[in-house]
Formats: sequence, C-alpha cells, structure tokens
Amino acid sequence: MANQPRIAKQPRIGKNVIIGENVILGENVVIQNNCIIEDNVVLGDNSYIDNNCLIRNDVVLGENSTIGANCILGEYQMDFFKDHEYHKHELIIGKNAIIRSGCILYSGTVIGDNFQAGHQVTIRENSQIGNSVSAGTLTDIQGHCKIGNYVRMHSSVHVGTSSVIDDCCWIYPYVVFTNDPTPPSDTEIGVHVHAFAIVATNAIILPGIDVQSDSLIGAGTIVNRNVEKYQVVVGNPGKPRADIRDIKNRETGEPYYPWRYHFDRNMPWKNYGFDNWYATLDDDMKQMLIGK
Ligand SMILES: CC(C)(COP(=O)(O)OP(=O)(O)OC[C@H]1O[C@@H](n2cnc3c(N)ncnc32)[C@H](O)[C@@H]1OP(=O)(O)O)[C@@H](O)C(=O)NCCC(=O)NCCS
Repeated sequence: MANQPRIAKQPRIGKNVIIGENVILGENVVIQNNCIIEDNVVLGDNSYIDNNCLIRNDVVLGENSTIGANCILGEYQMDFFKDHEYHKHELIIGKNAIIRSGCILYSGTVIGDNFQAGHQVTIRENSQIGNSVSAGTLTDIQGHCKIGNYVRMHSSVHVGTSSVIDDCCWIYPYVVFTNDPTPPSDTEIGVHVHAFAIVATNAIILPGIDVQSDSLIGAGTIVNRNVEKYQVVVGNPGKPRADIRDIKNRETGEPYYPWRYHFDRNMPWKNYGFDNWYATLDDDMKQMLIGK
C-alpha cells in the first residue's frame, strides 16, 4: 500500500488557555486546560502541555515533548524580582523531552534532546545540560551548572551551583554536591565529576573536589580529598579503598568495571559495543570522554 500523506492537525487548545504574543505552535500541539503561554514561546511539533502549566516568556520547546501538569517553564531570575520588568532570558529545551508534573525550570538554561525529569524537579538559571540526561523526582539542580550527555541523576540529588558533571556519570539518590567551603560565605567552588564516574547514594562531595573518571564513591561517603581515576573511595572522611577494576560481578565473578563494557541500557553504544562506538567519535569527543 502506498504511504499515506501525513495530514497536519491544527493545535488543540483546552479551556481557559491564555496565549501571548508572537507564540509559534507547531503541528499537532496540544495545550490542555488552564495553561498560560506567555510571549515569544515556541512549542515544537507534537508537543503536549498538560493542565495548569505556566510557560513564561522566551521558552523554546523541541518537538515531541511532553510537559506534565502544573509545571512552570522559564521561571524568572533575580533581575525580575528587583524591578518587575521584562528581561530576556531564554529557556531552550531540545526534542523528545518528558518533564513530569510539578517541575520548575528557570530561564537562561539550555537543555539538550531526550531530557527526562521526574516529578517536582527544579533546575535553576544559566545551566547547560547535554543530551539524554535524566533527573529523578525532587532533584534540584542549582544555577550555573554544566552537565554533559547521558548523565543519570536519580531522585533527590542536590547539584550545587557551579557543579560540573561530565558525560555518562551516574549520580544516585540523595547525593549532595556542595560548593561553599566556609559556610556561610560568598565563595563558590563547584565540584567536578569526570566521565563514567559513579557516585553512590547519600554521598556528600565537599566544595571544589575533583572526582576523576571511572572512579566510584561508595554509599554514604563524605569526599574531602580529590579522587583519582579508577579509585574507589568510601567512609567518613572518604579514604581510597580499592581499584575499581578489582571489583567483581556478584553473579559471574568477573571484573565488572569499567561499567561501559558491561552495561548499555539507553546508552549510545547499545547493541554496538563501547569500543566500536568510541571508534566513531572525533578526537575532541574521545579526549573529553576518557582522555582526562
Ligand atoms: C568542616 C570543614 C569546613 C573542614 O574543612 P577544612 O578545615 O578545610 O578541613 P581539612 O580538609 O583541612 O581537613 C582537616 C581534617 O579533618 C578531616 N575532615 C574535614 N572535613 C571532614 C568532614 N566533613 N568529615 C570528616 N572528616 C573531615 C580531614 O580528613 C582532615 O583529617 P586529617 O588531618 O586526619 O587528614 C568541611 O569539611 C566542611 O564541612 N565544609 C562545608 C561544606 C558545606 O557543607 N558547605 C555548605 C553547602 S554548599
């Protein structure tokens, strides 16, 4: 049978929806009841905005995205609270986002494609977030953070201002990245976690700590010294305990780390093998991933 031509549908707008000026709605957009879409907003094709959402000025949402009920996108920054005047700060979200109910995302942040957020996630202003990142329920990403691609943050992770998390890191529930070495102060020194590192549940990383790639921070650890590549650090205060490459899989007895050779769920090398995928990357990307 010949392919049927795709028939574009007009946007479907619910009751009590207010739409501002210069708003661009893609094909098949659905906006449910009681939403407010302010000025200069772009909603990509097939995006779905559930009930009671507030989308403030200058939000750009990529195609095929779903925004759950009661979300605020493009929340004001401090400059608005000082003078109650309009200040242009865009919030840009890539395509295929799933942002569950109750999230608040501030203006000035750029988020890549395939972003997923649990419920009541907050992301403050001026952060850069890569592709295929997920942030579990109640995770709080403070401003001016840089988060790479394929970073997984589970529930209730606190990412302090100016933190840097490189590609393919795993951050488990209740992890806290601090930044003020002498609280309270105006000094902010963010944590830097390098590619493929794993930070297990309830760990606290003290300000300015550098966690090198392929390392593992054990559950409940307080990390107050830099962590070297392949180091396993545990305890309070954290102490190096092992080389991650010596940790064995409980079922097979085989070495399990680096995990990228044994785990590929939702990863770009799925069904392809890490080394095959890695060989396709350009030199800058290779350097960024495992060169440091
Ligand atoms: C208490 C604190 C200020 C100590 O910092 P510091 O004086 O720079 O400490 P040092 O790194 O010089 O460490 C001194 C000793 O105390 C130990 N130590 C320091 N902080 C520790 C902690 N939080 N838990 C356990 N031991 C700690 C160190 O291991 C070191 O022991 P050693 O001499 O046997 O090696 C710091 O640990 C801290 O809590 N900073 C605040 C972070 C924060 O929560 N900010 C607010 C949120 S952003």
